[in-house]
Formats: sequence, structure tokens, C-alpha cells
Amino acid sequence: MKIDIRLGETPARVSEIFIGEDMMESVPGALEKALGTRSAYWIWDETVWALWGGKVADLGWPMDRNGGLILFTASEFDKRLASVELLARRLVSAGANRDSAIIAVGGGVTGDVAGFLASIYMRGIPCFQVPTTLLAQVDSSIGGKTGVDLPEGKNLLGTFQQPVQVYIDPRFITTLPDEELRQGMAEVIKSAMIGDEVLWKFVETNFDALKRRDPSALSRIISASCLLKSRVVQADEKESGVRRTLNLGHTVGHALEKLTGFRLRHGDCVATGMVAAAQLSKRLGKLHAEDLQRLENICETWGMPVRIPASIKSGDIIDAVRADKKRIGEKLHFILPVRIGKVIEFTDIDNGEFVEVLKSLGAG
Ligand SMILES: NC(=O)c1ccc[n+]([C@@H]2O[C@H](COP(=O)([O-])OP(=O)(O)OC[C@H]3O[C@@H](n4cnc5c(N)ncnc54)[C@H](O)[C@@H]3O)[C@@H](O)[C@H]2O)c1
Ligand SMILES: [Zn+2]
Repeated sequence: MKIDIRLGETPARVSEIFIGEDMMESVPGALEKALGTRSAYWIWDETVWALWGGKVADLGWPMDRNGGLILFTASEFDKRLASVELLARRLVSAGANRDSAIIAVGGGVTGDVAGFLASIYMRGIPCFQVPTTLLAQVDSSIGGKTGVDLPEGKNLLGTFQQPVQVYIDPRFITTLPDEELRQGMAEVIKSAMIGDEVLWKFVETNFDALKRRDPSALSRIISASCLLKSRVVQADEKESGVRRTLNLGHTVGHALEKLTGFRLRHGDCVATGMVAAAQLSKRLGKLHAEDLQRLENICETWGMPVRIPASIKSGDIIDAVRADKKRIGEKLHFILPVRIGKVIEFTDIDNGEFVEVLKSLGAG
């Protein structure tokens, strides 16, 4: 499958996403064509390199195409400006210039850091993405957001630069730990809830195939999620309108991440955040109880938390929500599901109502 994200500017920019069960085999040919005379510098997550480097070398990936290979320790701790400087210096000493390109291979951390570096290296060079976690394949590699964290908060420094091409092969997911698979599944469930009821039904009925990482089942959910995200990004690249719908579950989700010192994982927090948004929507008479139940069931099947730990106070959640960089003005701003496959933006949330929901989910 190929998805084009066309961004309406002159000259038109297109970001191409290729998804396929045999994508690994197609990467050398696709890159050769897309790179032209550019030299290529690879930034690989070192864990992924250890697992997959031998295999892709056998497939003829051009790892030394007038450029070089840099291994990166990918952890959220390494997603910071110091890493960008280190990587940039390695590029300079390896001879990368304005006619070079960066190819990022790894999860969202590697993609965000390498994408950020590409967007500022010598005022910007092209970037290619090969996402290897489910989260990166359905979310972070699509849409051109790049960035690093500050001690004060996540993703506070960053740019928008669309990748030239994204190559997605679901077979990378076969080596992904269960916990990482679950984080990606939360974003897939989010996509389905936002705008794809068919995807929702597929996830509901194909748990076993997805859990054992069947490439064809994975390919199906990755394609649907990428299609949804690409449509939204195409309509609103810089997140001034419809792109905000992708934040379903993230308002409360981010607050939970922050309040647990990032002990709770992002996807897990988004799952709880989606349940909170759905509860709120039900209280406001906008969502059927049955759809809320289906959401709780699907999250529980995947082992995602649907309750808030009692140690977290509802007042603290509200303060954290108000401090979120994605807040709009003074009002609490929410994406609410109205049925499976449809959400609305709602900014008129009553504080008391919100507290009730948080307490009903277990918050102190
Ligand atoms: N740019 C965006 O639009 C966007 C969107 C969502 C999330 N993000 C960012 O993405 C990051 C999270 O991404 P992530 O969940 O992919 O994390 P990650 O990159 O840290 O990867 C998770 C773990 O999986 C390992 N790994 C990667 N691929 C593997 C494979 N195929 N087999 C085995 N292990 C593998 C990594 O080494 C790492 O330990 C966060 O920093 C978040 O802010 C960005
Ligand atoms: Zn997310």
C-alpha cells in the first residue's frame, strides 16, 4: 500500500508512506531512486541494529552508500538536545553536507531525534524514516513532528519537517517486546475510535492474530491507522484544527504520565485517558453506555489500565491538564468520542463534572 500526504504549498510537498509485508526487500530499490546523487547517513537504534542489521544487510540495504552508519542508544532519556549535538558532530566528521540525507531506523525516539537533526542540520536536509515499533509505524513516523525533551517537559523543542519517504514493514514488530506492542495498540485503538469503525471491529475480532504478530493482521491495522493520520495531517499539518482530534485520550493521558514521573507508559496512559474522555462524554449524554463498555473491554483485553491509581489526586490531574502545552486558552479542552469512529472537539467542560469522572475512575 502507498499513501501520499500532499501538503498544499508551492512547490507542493509530498510525503510518501509505503507499507508492505515485504517492504524490507523493496527498501534498496526505493532508496536508490529517491536518493539520486545524495549521500545517505543512517541513524539506527542500536537495539534494532543488533536484531535486524544482519538481515537487512543480506537484503542489500545500502548501509555504506557514500555515507555511514551511526548507532544511537534510544531511550526517552537520550531524547534530548545533547544527543542531537553529538549526532550532528558525528555527521560533520563523517563528511555529511547539504547534499546528504538522513535515514532513521528505530522507534519513535530515534525517529524524533533523527528527524529533528535532519530538519536543522545545515539548515535542513531530507529525512527518511524506517519505523520499527508499532507506535512509530502507526503514529510517530507519520506527520512530520520531530523533537526532543527538556527536563521541564516532553517534546518542548522541535520542528515540523515531513519525511520524504517512510518504509513500514510489519515484520519488524515480531521482535518487539509485548509491553511495546501494547503501547502501539493503544494508538491504533485511538485511531479507530476517532474515525474508523471497521478498524475497530477488526481489532476487536483479531486479538489472537495481532497478539502473535501475524504480519498480515498487523499490516491491516497499520495501513488503516496511517491512512487516518495522513488524512488528518494533510488537512491540518500544523495542528490548528482537525489534527487536534488525534489528541483523544491525551489530555488526561499526559497528566497521568507526568504525575507518575513517567512510570506509567504513554500508551497505557492514553488508554486510561480515552476511558476518561468516554466517561465524560457519556455523562454529557453524547456517548452510549454500550460504546463506553466496548472501549473498556478492548483496553482490558490488551492489558491496558482503565482505572486511575488512587494515589493520584483529581485536583492534581486538573492542574496538570491546565498546564499542558496543548491547552487552548483558559478553557478545559477535550476531544470526546460520540460513537465508535467519531469524535468531537468540546471546550466547555464543567470542572465539577470532570472531577466526578476522575473520581469514578479511582482518582483520589
Ligand atoms: N513525532 C510524533 O508525531 C510522535 C507521535 C507519538 C509519539 N512520539 C514519540 O515517540 C516516542 C516513543 O516511541 P516508541 O514507543 O517507538 O519508543 P522507542 O523508540 O523508545 O522504542 C521503544 C523500545 O523498543 C525498542 N525497539 C524498537 N524497535 C524494536 C524492534 N523492532 N524489536 C525490538 N525492540 C525494538 C527500542 O530500542 C526501545 O527500547 C516518544 O518519545 C514520543 O514522544 C512522537
Ligand atoms: Zn500518543
